[in-house]
Amino acid sequence: MSIDNLITSPPRLPMIGGSILAADFGALGSECRRVLAAGADLLHLDVMDGHFVPNLTMGPDLCRSLRRAVPEACLDVHLMVTDPAGLVGPFADAGAGHLTFHIEAVPEPVELAEAIRGAGMTAGLAINPSTDVSAIMSVLDSFDLILIMSVNPGFAGQEFIPSVLGKAQAVRPHLGAAQRLAIDGGVNERTAPAAREAGCDVLVAASAIFNQDDYAPAIAALRGKAGVVSRRT
Ligand code: DX5
Ligand code: ZN
Repeated sequence: MSIDNLITSPPRLPMIGGSILAADFGALGSECRRVLAAGADLLHLDVMDGHFVPNLTMGPDLCRSLRRAVPEACLDVHLMVTDPAGLVGPFADAGAGHLTFHIEAVPEPVELAEAIRGAGMTAGLAINPSTDVSAIMSVLDSFDLILIMSVNPGFAGQEFIPSVLGKAQAVRPHLGAAQRLAIDGGVNERTAPAAREAGCDVLVAASAIFNQDDYAPAIAALRGKAGVVSRRT
């Protein structure tokens, strides 16, 4: 099955994923509309199970509501859960466009990538700061997106860990034109340039966007001066 969505066919790079973890949960629909209107390319949903990470956040029902609130948006779901396989069907039914799970939860991840793609979504693989990049190098081809975690997952508002950029540099040369390299955690105006320089073409940010009064300049600052319109070839 060939899956064509914003992940594989981006209109511009880098893309900015607005992580709604730092949005006002009491006004989530309007927060999502606002961040998309301000230039975010993807809506990033951080799903936490209180087990893989010490926090509880959102599930398929919330995803379904957002699908109705922002029908055109690409809903990029980041599963920080111990058992992601059981959530593929529910998130596909709820309108997710992309599903990322963690190598630390699924050490042999190829079959699950195929299940995600079989359910009509693009598939992503995330790697925590403390996990060596060798854990994912042999399976890169099975994924549409590789997500380098630049904080320990669980909470918004943490400090960027610069040593993870070595992983981005190691992975980048092995990815094709339709594959994305994302970074997530502590990405802000100050840390984004090094992430872009290391080859990251999807920058995920919560605090750097939602903690500002005006989302548009915050997003433009993450994207960088070029405001790039070209597609990586
Ligand atoms: C962390 C989440 C991130 C988080 C980023 O576990 O995966 O997406 O929301 O938050 P900031 O940008 O505030 O570090
Ligand atoms: Zn995330």
